[in-house]
Amino acid sequence: MQVVIDYLKANQDRFIAELSEYLRFPSVSAQSQHKPDMAACAEWLANHCRQIGLSAEVCPTDGHPIVVAKTPRAPKSGRPHFMVYGHYDVQPPEPLALWKTPPFEPVIKDGNIYARGSTDNKGQNLAHLKAVEACFKTGTPLPCDLTFVIEGEEEVGSASLDKFLKSHRKELQCQAVVISDTGMPGLKFPAMTYALRGLMALEIKLHGPSHDLHSGIFGGAVENPAMALCQLLGQLRNKNGRVTIPGFYDGIVPLTKLERRQSALYPLKDAALKKLLGAPALFGERGFTATEQRSARPTFEINGLTSGYQGEGGKTIVPSWASAKITCRLVPNQDPAHIRKVVCDHLKKICPPAVRLEIEAGHGAEAYLVSPESPNARAALRALKSAFGCEPILMREGGSIPIVNQFKKILGAESLLLGLGLPDDNAHSPNEKFNLECFAKGQCMSAHLWRELAGRQTTKQP
Ligand code: BES
Ligand code: MN
Repeated sequence: MQVVIDYLKANQDRFIAELSEYLRFPSVSAQSQHKPDMAACAEWLANHCRQIGLSAEVCPTDGHPIVVAKTPRAPKSGRPHFMVYGHYDVQPPEPLALWKTPPFEPVIKDGNIYARGSTDNKGQNLAHLKAVEACFKTGTPLPCDLTFVIEGEEEVGSASLDKFLKSHRKELQCQAVVISDTGMPGLKFPAMTYALRGLMALEIKLHGPSHDLHSGIFGGAVENPAMALCQLLGQLRNKNGRVTIPGFYDGIVPLTKLERRQSALYPLKDAALKKLLGAPALFGERGFTATEQRSARPTFEINGLTSGYQGEGGKTIVPSWASAKITCRLVPNQDPAHIRKVVCDHLKKICPPAVRLEIEAGHGAEAYLVSPESPNARAALRALKSAFGCEPILMREGGSIPIVNQFKKILGAESLLLGLGLPDDNAHSPNEKFNLECFAKGQCMSAHLWRELAGRQTTKQP
């Protein structure tokens, strides 16, 4: 193992240069103008996998391509097989004016690499590839077979990968899926995430007059859709931070005392969180700590709100329409389809007759919860400890990785969430970065992981 670790150490500068190349692709899955960049990024990634010594394919889909790369297989080896999942697509970089350096021109500063997609998720998936490279180039045999599945639609709901899993069920069957696409509280706090929140997305639009009107001539005699939207949305949460939609909380399993005690140990405390977020105060559902609120409680969020004149100066109009992009984060036992129904039913019920409500459904994903005590989970914790040199913590996280439920349902495989992102990485925000020490330690963790995981598998004979 020491030769692998030494190789990783000796090659960091090149790895960082390669990560920079990867980050230069503006692989924004949500924006159709970036379709060619998505394809180019997938090609680059597949080529990179081949250089490392993997066999790699760019698999076309109805949406963005999926890169599948495999370690050379010995015939009928009966060795354990693990999947490494990641994504090369990134969130839109907007608002561009808030970036200190351009989002797709990586810059290294104070031990961090700044670029859209650096922490989420290119830096994290490249760390796993580098560990495999180190094993190959030092002639260190891997104790298991690996398949890398790096998709291009994670940030838009993973629809194509869902189909791909169904049509490639057999070849993707594996003992577990390893994913570094979550976080850790700090460099001294490596972590394994055992729960993620789910998601339900929709967009609503309130239609008023058929065109924007002079607010002096007509205002007062016709409903203002922007005002109606504010009043509609304003009713959906009360002053205690509780969502008021009937049925929203039905069936949620309360946190156990043990879980609450565990989450209280999470090292990022309220004062530090407030500072990190730059908000005047923290706010959330009464009766829960901030850690619980952002990882184990459901939310109703407005992601974007649009209506009327947005340009320079003023414009006296009654806008013709107003719209909102909405997502709810969900916790275990909340079914996305059911939540969509209770939200839509309620909106229809309370929408005033002076505007017409249009609802467009978005993607949905269930929450994820896995035992942190399984043999695979324990093996992963040992690998974290070896790489970071301190005891890893267990945590729930509030983000979503929609496909993890499909790994379980379609492949029967649990996901091990071994995130390398830091709380101040600015994922989905301007000035996203990835800490280069997280990159390096992540590579070591991955190198240790295959031994720990494979060492304790009972190999199935073919
Ligand atoms: N890497 C995140 C998910 C994440 C981040 C989980 C931090 C836990 C902690 C992922 O790329 C992501 O952002 N997913 C989206 C999914 C959605 C767009 C379908 C999310 O959570 O908003
Ligand atoms: Mn991600």
